Order: sequence, then structure tokens, then C-alpha cells
Amino acid sequence: MDIKAGIIGVGSYVPKNVITNSDLEKIMDTSDEWIKTRTGISERRIVSELEATSDMASKAALNAISNSKINVNDIDMIIVATVTPDSPLPSTACIVQEKIGATNAIAFDLAAACSGFLYAMNIAKRFVESKMYNNILLIGAETLSSVVNYDDRSTAVLFGDGAGAAIISKVEEGGILSIINGADGTGKDYLKIPAGGSRIKAGEYSIKNKLHSIKMSGNDVFKFAVRKMSEESVKAIEKAKLSLEDIDFLIPHQANIRIIESSAKRLGLKKDKVYVNLTRYGNMSSASIPVAMDEAFREGKIKKGDKIVLVGFGGGLTWGSSVVQWSI
Ligand code: UT7
Repeated sequence: MDIKAGIIGVGSYVPKNVITNSDLEKIMDTSDEWIKTRTGISERRIVSELEATSDMASKAALNAISNSKINVNDIDMIIVATVTPDSPLPSTACIVQEKIGATNAIAFDLAAACSGFLYAMNIAKRFVESKMYNNILLIGAETLSSVVNYDDRSTAVLFGDGAGAAIISKVEEGGILSIINGADGTGKDYLKIPAGGSRIKAGEYSIKNKLHSIKMSGNDVFKFAVRKMSEESVKAIEKAKLSLEDIDFLIPHQANIRIIESSAKRLGLKKDKVYVNLTRYGNMSSASIPVAMDEAFREGKIKKGDKIVLVGFGGGLTWGSSVVQWSI
């Protein structure tokens, strides 16, 4: 008998330290007014010196597990979507596996930038529906403050740290009705961290030239995002054999309020049908969709049976979209 994969628990964690726009005004040539009008962001969270990606990821994961009907021993796969792992080796997923005590789970990381969570969700859906794995823990977690160059005002104001998690398992009602991922490597230079891998090794040259931090061609990413967010949402809706009128809520990647508003407008969705938390957190890359999903659920904005579009884009370039009928 066919089974359907869906979300059976969500959770999130953001660090305590709040960095406001006025804090940034004190260390770089920027203004609260510019940041708010150009991006929608008012503040972001930044890890303490003792925190790394796996710490936030584990807290979000335990939160999601306690909000679901399974226990940690039931988890048989952990995927951590991140571009800011604790270190290149071992995977952050293995560190999380140990921290939360999920001894029965295989564990690996996935790097698809801000689309990472939706890439991981696609993989999880296939494994659950093919009955190879039963309870998959997906985590999007980022310590972007570790790769931000505070001398580059065009990127430094945008990013924040955090983690969101979801458990994907068999569901009786609803579930992941459609999911689409894509990539276009011709845009690989639009958003990158050039050094620290095998091309430009970590050393004096890479440190002096700040090649371990984010470089972005903001305008190119912006144009790509505005087009892709609505196009890919429509494709996911069609793939689910639904129409725009069937959609109850939109949870978009939280990169820029102007990108979100233009996507919502193209989809004909009113403001109260679109979740926005970038005001408080900035862009948390792969963590942004799962954190938004957890908050929207806890705030009662999404409820059992609702049809929700999740959509994101990011470095690579990559993108993903999905229609989920909420099962919890
Ligand atoms: O998750 C995916 C990751 N990335 C994104 O989603 C980013 C997509 N892109 C964007 O969100 C926008 O392109 C940005 C927010 C990054 C930039 O906004 P923009 O409206 O495209 O601004 P711009 O880059 O065209 O810059 C306009 C002006 C420039 O000054 P001049 O040349 O006109 O004098 C910049 O130097 O704003 C200046 N500027 C700033 N001013 C104050 C750039 N950053 C800042 C800043 N504070 N932080």
C-alpha cells in the first residue's frame, strides 16, 4: 500500500544575543533606515562564543522530537542542511546524532545554501515513501555570523544565526503533496565563500583577503529570487494538482521583505497569509524556512489540513518549492 510522507513535529532554536540595526550603525557605515527599507530587517540573533551550529541544531532537534509522537530512538536518519558546519569533518549531523543520543540514525550534511532544508525534505520524502527509513530528522542550522565580513556592509547587515527542525514520517492525512528542487551552476559566483575548501586553501593569503567570508552580488541574486519564488511556487501548486485559490498560507525563505512581498503579490496572497520573521532574525539561510514553519505553527497561523507553500532560493544557485498539507 502506498504511504504518504509528512511533517509530524517541528522545533526551533535561536541564540539569545540580539544585534539591532543601531548596534551595526556603531561599527559600520550603515543606518537603521537603509536596512529596514531595503531589507525589512530590524535585528538578528548571534551565537555566543561557546555556541556552534551543532549546538543550535541539537536544541532545535530535541524541540521537534518533543513536539512529535516519536522518541529519539525512533529516528533512523538525520540530515543537517548547512553551509556553516562546525568543521568540514566530521559532519555536523554526526555531532548532532551524538548530542541528542539518536543512536539508531545514519547522519549526513547537505549543502544547498538557503534551499538546503527543501532539498533535505525531498530526500526525506523519498526515503519514507519507499519505506527504507521511517522517521527522518531534518535540520536547517546556520552560524552565519562566523562567515560574515563586518567590513562589508552590503552583506553584514543581512544575516543571522539559528536552527529549525522537522520530523518527516508516514502520515495518515495530508503530507508533502509536491516538492521540486533545482540548481543552476552558471550562477555559482553570485553568492559564495571562496576559501577554506580545496580550491583556495586556508592560509595567510585567504585570511588577509577575507576569502573565508560571504561574497554576494546582491542585485543578481535579487532578480533571480523575485522570478524564481513565484515561478517555483506555481509549479509546486500545479504538481500537487491544486490551484492558487486552494493555498492557505505561504512560508517563504526569509531573505528580503521586498522579495517576499513581490512573490506574495504575484501569487495573489494577502499579507496575513504570508509568514514573515526576518524583521527579528534576518536571513538564517537553511534555518529560515524551518524556524518560520515552527513559529507559524506555534502562533496558530497554520493548522491541521491547511495547504502551505514552502519556497526558497539560495547560493549555487539553488531553489526549492513544496506544497505541504499540514498533518499536526
Ligand atoms: O538567501 C539568499 C541570499 N541573498 C539574498 O537574498 C540577497 C538578495 N539581494 C538583496 O536583498 C539586495 O540586493 C540587497 C539588500 C543585498 C541590496 O539592496 P539593493 O537595493 O539591491 O541595494 P544595492 O546593492 O543596489 O545598493 C544601493 C546603495 C549602494 O550605494 P550607491 O552605490 O547607490 O551609492 C550601496 O553602496 O546602497 C548602498 N548600501 C548600503 N547603504 C547603507 C549597500 N549596503 C548598505 C548598507 N547600508 N548596509
